[in-house]
Amino acid sequence: MSKYTQERRLLHGGDYNPDQWLHCPDILTEDIALMRDANTNTFSLGIFAWAKLEPQEGVFDFAWLDTVINRIEAIGGNVILATPSGARPAWMSAKYPEVLRVNERREKQLHGARHNHCFSSPIYREKVQIINRKLAERYGDHKALLMWHISNEYGGDCHCNLCQENFRTWLKSKYQTLERLNRAWWADFWSHTLTDWNQIESPSSIGETGVHGLNLDWRRFVTDQTIDFYLEECRPFRELTPDVEITTNFMGEVMEPHPFAGLDYAKFAEVVDIVSWDAYPNWHNDYETTAHLASKLAFLNDYFRALKDKPFLIMESTPSLVNWHPVNKAKRPGMHLLSSIATLAHGSDSVLYFQWRKSRGSSEKFHGAVVDHDQSRENRVFQEVSELGRILENIKEIKGANTRAKVALLYDTENKWALDDAQAYVRADKQYAETLHMHYKYFWDNNIAVDVITKDKPLDRYQLVIAPMLYMMEAAVIEKLRSYVAHGGHLVSTYLTGKVDENDLVYQGGWPVPLSELFGVNVLETDTLYPKDRNSIAAFGSEFAAMDYCEIIQTAGAMPLGTYQADFYQETPAVTEHAFGRGRSYFIAARTGPDFLNAFYSFVYREESRGVEAEAGVSVAVREKDGVAYIFVMNFTESAQSIHLPERMLDIATGNTLEQGTHELPVYGFHVLKRAKKEA
Ligand code: GLA
Ligand code: ZN
Repeated sequence: MSKYTQERRLLHGGDYNPDQWLHCPDILTEDIALMRDANTNTFSLGIFAWAKLEPQEGVFDFAWLDTVINRIEAIGGNVILATPSGARPAWMSAKYPEVLRVNERREKQLHGARHNHCFSSPIYREKVQIINRKLAERYGDHKALLMWHISNEYGGDCHCNLCQENFRTWLKSKYQTLERLNRAWWADFWSHTLTDWNQIESPSSIGETGVHGLNLDWRRFVTDQTIDFYLEECRPFRELTPDVEITTNFMGEVMEPHPFAGLDYAKFAEVVDIVSWDAYPNWHNDYETTAHLASKLAFLNDYFRALKDKPFLIMESTPSLVNWHPVNKAKRPGMHLLSSIATLAHGSDSVLYFQWRKSRGSSEKFHGAVVDHDQSRENRVFQEVSELGRILENIKEIKGANTRAKVALLYDTENKWALDDAQAYVRADKQYAETLHMHYKYFWDNNIAVDVITKDKPLDRYQLVIAPMLYMMEAAVIEKLRSYVAHGGHLVSTYLTGKVDENDLVYQGGWPVPLSELFGVNVLETDTLYPKDRNSIAAFGSEFAAMDYCEIIQTAGAMPLGTYQADFYQETPAVTEHAFGRGRSYFIAARTGPDFLNAFYSFVYREESRGVEAEAGVSVAVREKDGVAYIFVMNFTESAQSIHLPERMLDIATGNTLEQGTHELPVYGFHVLKRAKKEA
């Protein structure tokens, strides 16, 4: 059994950088006492420690790390040990400039910052191999070692000659002949036909950006190249410590909301043992409600959970504020607990922070931390962290519990790439992620669990699959959706669907026949509206605004559920329903607001309540394990709300039993209720 499986606690702690404090031994000793008082148990070490681990080429110093790890072990803590490849020592850049990136403008980067190494450089790979192997040999059997943390937030690309060569090799193996590549890229456009593999260059603002097939393949290559680098980093650990899990921290943009778009995590997730991500919602902002932001955070959590259909880790979050939001506001009292519970509710088995202790200098010196510059145990943040630690101990039995969603929302990173590239529609922003989230929000508001899935996932377990704006669809995806509906599934799709194939080449001869059969409609035109333009849709006995995109469709078997009310396509269908095989498919031809989606989804889908009734802004989410349901009830509003329990339930966060009936949930209050599942 792996170390992580044996660990019964939820992980609580975070990034710890003793390497910044080696000149202050008192601080390092005090840290350990503080860790205990903060009720923390897990620390990610060594993330940017290369300069202290290998101060000169080939000269290693692990003594300080030994001490820190031993001390953490002595208080019963875990270490998530990182490889240091996220940043490199100055001696290395100076001696081997090839390790430095070249940016898309073909400018060689200077030493500095981080996350900026060349993924192809044989020297960088070799240096990483050496240090990773030493870490594996030295700490692989250490009792405190819980997991390996490979590098940090992989991202970005390098355009150096080595990377260009690897890109060409990647393309050769994909296309075999230049003729096929030229055709896939539609390269005869503007005379961009390639006659020699060496003419191929990665996309650049001083060169090629208009060949969409090239842009797409470059992004695919960057994902593959990053994964290749990662796999090489993993080699010594897989060889020497096969029972120790490996993760690397993914990123998500909560404000948008979408996963980091520089890499296709659908592919990356296949090669990590446990998905982890870094979550930084900007609570208390001035443009949305707390509940709205909570639903965005939930959307991302449901994406990261669904990547492997199992609990994930929050590898970083802030106990207070960050330093990189446009405005860095402190979390209001109670928000830290609620925000942490919110991620646990959607599948996290940890609350880990960036960072344990605030640094004194450099760019992150004002980033929130458990231990502030005042070094006080009494300050509000430290107190809330230690209170959370007590709660995590109380609720630790949720570890491993999963969510069984019957609704899936399809998010495809490759589709986002292609859609963002399309010089059409609204040029600047097609709002792919926002649109998905708008659909998701209906389910969040109604406390219905959703898996935010990638297109490679099986669909048969879902009663409803929602795939908005799937502009790029390869034949296999179309076939998968057809077969899902034919076997009884319910599918929702929208405008801007099925326009191009996997090479970003437009389907010829109208909307693809297999889609037209599936939805029982034909798409004739896409009308893009100016931001203030409105059409409207009469449906479900009401009238709803339509904006941004209105597709003009013709039914070919489907039944109209709504029609446009204005313009030259007045009275034509805007929303349709179609019986296909044993299932049903729905097509929403225009972008609408949440009012329409509420009416639409209450018509299309119904699910049994989660057992707890709550007012708007109070979210109910469920995780299940061994016949037990853990019901998280969370108040994301700035006033007390009432909730109703159908029966007596135990709140494992507090140990209190709540009687059947109505209860008041205070501002930012929450319960973690335990309920034995009824026999089916
Ligand atoms: C990222 C990084 C951390 C730190 C935080 C700050 O998530 O991984 O090293 O810079 O951002 O929020
Ligand atoms: Zn490179």
